[in-house]
Formats: sequence, C-alpha cells, structure tokens
Amino acid sequence: MVRRGRENLSNVVASQIATHAKFGGVVPELAAREHLHNIVPVVRAALAEAGAAFRDLDAIAVTSGPGLAGALLVGITYAKSLAYGLGKPLIAVNHLEGHIHAVLLEQTTTRTALEPETPILALVVSGGHTHLYLADFNDTGAPGSEFGARAANAPNPGKTWHYRNVGRTVDDAAGEAFDKVAKLLGLPYPGGPWIDALAPRGNPKAVPFAFAQIKAKGNRPAAEDNPETKTLFSFSGIKTAVLRYVETHGLKPSIEARKEALMAIPGPKPADALALCDQQTLDLIASFQHAVVGDLLRKTVRAAERLGVRSLIVTGGVAANRELRARFAAEAADRNLPVAFPSLTLSTDNAAMIAAAAWPKYLAEEFAPTSLNADPSLALGG
Ligand code: KG4
Ligand code: ZN
Repeated sequence: MVRRGRENLSNVVASQIATHAKFGGVVPELAAREHLHNIVPVVRAALAEAGAAFRDLDAIAVTSGPGLAGALLVGITYAKSLAYGLGKPLIAVNHLEGHIHAVLLEQTTTRTALEPETPILALVVSGGHTHLYLADFNDTGAPGSEFGARAANAPNPGKTWHYRNVGRTVDDAAGEAFDKVAKLLGLPYPGGPWIDALAPRGNPKAVPFAFAQIKAKGNRPAAEDNPETKTLFSFSGIKTAVLRYVETHGLKPSIEARKEALMAIPGPKPADALALCDQQTLDLIASFQHAVVGDLLRKTVRAAERLGVRSLIVTGGVAANRELRARFAAEAADRNLPVAFPSLTLSTDNAAMIAAAAWPKYLAEEFAPTSLNADPSLALGG
C-alpha cells in the first residue's frame, strides 16, 4: 500500500521461491496456484500493516503484463472484483514500469538523494527482462494542465511518465543467465543471489569470457552515434561458454556432488555452498559475473552517451547484485552521471512498485476498463 505514490505504507511479499526451487525454475501452473492461494491473505496483511481498511483506498492497482498469463489473471480477476465491489477505480500497471517506479518511490520517500533528473535511462534487469528505457514525464500539476481537477487539486501533483524502449536482449535475460549458470554449477534456484555471494571469493579475470558484437538491421557499428540505434544484449552465449568450460575441465562430478550435498541441507546458506566449491569453480563464478556486469555496464553507458540522458536508473532482480551496483556507481561517478538503484527489498518483484507507478495514472484518471485482460507480452512505451 502506497500513499500518493511516495510513501510506502506496507509491502507484503509472498515468496514462491521454496515452491519452485525443487524444480530448478518457475513452474507456471504452480505459480498461478500459489497466487490464488496467497492473494487474499496478502492483501489483508498489507491493509493490516498499513493500519487501513478497504474503504480508505483511493484505487486498486494491478499488474496487467508482461508475465505468466495464469499468474497475471489471478491478480487481474481479484483486483477487478475488489474495485467493482468497493466502487473504486482500477489501474493497470506494466510490470516493467513498476520496476522503474521502485526507484522513484524511494527517491521521493527518503529524500536521501534528489529525484533523478530527466531524461532518465533505465536498465531493467530481471529474470525475464534485460531492457533499456528512455523515461521522461509531462508535469500534470502545471497551470493549464490537460488533466482534470484531481491533478490540479492534488497536494502533490503527479507526473505522467512516458517511455521509449531503446534496448533489449535478443535471447536470454541477464537474470536467466545467472539462474541457468547457477543451475549448471549445482547451485540452488534462483541462482543470482548465490553467484553474487560466491563471486567475491574467486578471480574475476581467471576465465576471459567475451561478448560478441550483436548485429541487427540498422545496428551496424556506424550507427553507434545514432539515437535511433537500439542496444542489443545477448546472454545465451556466455551460458554455453560456461557449459563448455565445465565439460572441458571435467567439473561435472564435483558439480553433481555439490548439488546433492546442498539439497540435503535444509535452508542452505552461501557458507554451505562456499565450503562445497573449489577455487576453479569460484574463479569461474567470479569471471561469469564480471563478464555479465561488464557487458551490462558498457552497453548502458554507451546508450546513455548516445541519448544524452541526465541520469541512470538500474532496477529489477539483478540490480540487487553487489558487483553490478559497485561498478555502475563507480563508472557513473567518473562520468558525473547520477545513478540510482532500488533498496534490496524493492529490487526484486513487489507490490509497492506497482502502487507507486499507479499514482500518476490515478492523477491523470487513466483507469482500466472492466474488459482489462492479462497481456503476457505487454510492451512498455514505443
Ligand atoms: O525482478 P525479479 O524479482 O523477477 C522477475 O521479474 O524476473 O528478478 C528475479 C531475477 C532472478 O533471475 C534472480 O536470480 C535475479 O533476479 N537476482 C539476482 C540477484 N538477486 C536476484 N541476480 C544477480 N545478483 C543478485 N544478487
Ligand atoms: Zn520483475
């Protein structure tokens, strides 16, 4: 529950990690079932934690995509019934816009940093996405605003944000690469936090992973300075390179042993995994992470230059990664380009970011129709 897009009153997360971990990845049918099971208790807990009742709500926000159809449908159906029953407006939010607003919410809440200056380049890196967006806003609180009395009378006039997609992955998402490589090395699901925890124990220069230049129509090297050029990422090659390393260096037996040993420990900790990794494996982990973070950093910075942005946002599950944060912060400082990340709690999927993204839409009276449906491949911006 979020007040005026700025104040996080409660953020209840029902993690499904334990359910999916046994299968080494998300099982769509189970995800939908878990949502169905958890949605009512989670909403009640969020209200209780905020000390609020249903009648105190201004509107109900819900993720309409992108994501797994079954899971999205559970949320949409419940949100629609709630909005209808309470006579409150329903607001549809794009999941990726939510990740961007996770950062904006905290920047305005804590005021530890100034709100990022626009235009912003947002890197959304999660298990399903590696996207770059150019984000900017129209001020809805300005005199003569095209928006109604709701905006003009609001104590904190909002902004309607608009986005342009300026980069994407051509195959796997960065988080997917973390998860697949972790699985390949016998580490639990989701793999990102395990790789993050083990990487500092290895030599990041031990295995020189290289990223090939990705060619696509209109993306010839000569187009590098053209603001219309899209940044393309690719993370399936490095996963194959790790697999090849594992095979050529005979790591399979030790990986099997590690996997079995970790599965036998209830609630394994990074220290347990560390005790089960030899130096060669730690070096491989460190080199993998170093290469992925380096590629994300290089391409994002290049896009920031090309587009002339005034600040950077890095968000999504992978933005929790410590090496990623440290290297983005250092590079951005060198370039005098402010960079903002969400807190660790708001890096991975959560509901507060959806409520925060809904506030400007509430001010603009951008409400969802009763025909709202799940859109598993919903795009953000143009
Ligand atoms: O945003 P998110 O919670 O869900 C999606 O929308 O996908 O992101 C989950 C992804 C997973 O792939 C997970 O391994 C990765 O974020 N992740 C990390 C870290 N924490 C989560 N990757 C690298 N380092 C981390 N510390
Ligand atoms: Zn996400």
